[in-house]
Amino acid sequence: MKLNDVAEVPPRGGFPEDFLWGVAMSAKQAEGAATEDGRGLTVADLQDYNPQDTMKVKGDFTRDQILERLEHPEHYWFPKKQGIDFRHTYREDLALLAELGIKAFRTSICWSRVFPNGDDEKPSDEGIAFYEDLFSEVRRLGLEPIVTIYHDDMPVSLALRFNGFLSRHVVDAYVWYATLMMDRLRMLVRYWIPVNQINLTRVGLSSLGIVRDTVDNLEAAKFQAVHNKFVACARVAEAGRTICPDFKFGSMLADFYQAPATCCPADMVLSTEKNQMTMFFFSDVQFRGEYPGYALRYFEDNGIEIQVEPGDLEVIADNTMDYLALSYYNSNVVSADKNSMAIGDYTLNPYLKANPWGWTVNPDGLYDCLTHYWDRWRKPILIAENGFGQVEQLDANDTVEDDYRVDYIREHLKALRKAIAHGVKVFSYCAWSPLDMVSSGTSEMRKRYGFVYVDLDDMGGGTGERYKKKSFDWYRRVCASNGEEGL
Ligand code: BG6
Repeated sequence: MKLNDVAEVPPRGGFPEDFLWGVAMSAKQAEGAATEDGRGLTVADLQDYNPQDTMKVKGDFTRDQILERLEHPEHYWFPKKQGIDFRHTYREDLALLAELGIKAFRTSICWSRVFPNGDDEKPSDEGIAFYEDLFSEVRRLGLEPIVTIYHDDMPVSLALRFNGFLSRHVVDAYVWYATLMMDRLRMLVRYWIPVNQINLTRVGLSSLGIVRDTVDNLEAAKFQAVHNKFVACARVAEAGRTICPDFKFGSMLADFYQAPATCCPADMVLSTEKNQMTMFFFSDVQFRGEYPGYALRYFEDNGIEIQVEPGDLEVIADNTMDYLALSYYNSNVVSADKNSMAIGDYTLNPYLKANPWGWTVNPDGLYDCLTHYWDRWRKPILIAENGFGQVEQLDANDTVEDDYRVDYIREHLKALRKAIAHGVKVFSYCAWSPLDMVSSGTSEMRKRYGFVYVDLDDMGGGTGERYKKKSFDWYRRVCASNGEEGL
């Protein structure tokens, strides 16, 4: 008897028949309508854009900077308050996106559109009605919704009063909000991502709600808030599985997998330890249900004391996540001479080209990291984000010849196909983003990722009209042929 006759050989060169081709976006970058439905402001709304100071990630404000932005909004331009007006255009936008032949649509719910201050006694009926309508429409178009419950848009009120997830009151408020929305959307949504990119804690205000100058030890505060997020996610999974046993919950990582810059042993050790503390730790806890030894050692060696409440470790152990959601854009390396353990402190890989923001292009890195993650966790994988940001303009034919985007996504899909052929279970690919929208990090419009061009500029000027780019038709062919064509 031959092994290959009795064991299941992964398919070569193909995607599973039920593969979910999709697109991904977020409320904070698209919806706008920042004060409609009784919505409260989020910390993302306060990320201003200043044409004198572009292309840099901003938003980790001090308390005074937050208060100044609230008191004197007239001194600033806040692109995320406007977004691309998706709150009003969602029906037409979804109809356009359905032309892509996609099967999945990922977006997030804005907490403060449901609870304006995050912890109000009563939710906003208008806010809930909007999301019921949005996801009904997604379903009506035959798409599978994938819903992020928190996409780095902490209600300002919770950040100012409680330092966000640093507080257990905010954990309770989040679980209450998430449970309400899971209940209201239970007939429409199956795939949930409790929090976007749980390992992306660099900008602590948006990811965790921590106002950085109000805590003594910022690193310790961030890890405490991460612990609280672990508890929050586990409680949400527990509540969700009671509402509907079919619900699936994802542990979401931003890919920071960093190879050593050289084969110097010090680089290799830094790579191992940094990958542990900036990547693996988060999903180790969420999949294995316990804190790994290397993390406990790191906390002790770095004077980080995490406060745990009775029942925390049990709820984490009993409510692990079902799948890995991964956002993958670029990859970097680490050098012991130049880099520390901090997220965002890396060396550019000299073998790779980069976009104007220094985001390198490395499709092989996707194959590589997927292989590691599958080996480590054996959990099905959703590519929750992958895409290419570029400065673009409409040409005379009212389109954009974005061949570089086609090249980028094509090469990443080939890497994905290879990973699948090597046994990695990937069930969905969601391209970031269907339409151009406000950049999360730099709050610019000019960093465009869409298959659809949106006529808005960095300062909010423009008609807001939508125009298909060349990549639109290409991605449509890929989806229609289940990846047989276009790659
Ligand atoms: C991901 C975020 O980390 O990166 C998205 O989840 C974001 O919200 C994407 O848009 C790309 O980042 P940026 O800053 O180019 O918009």
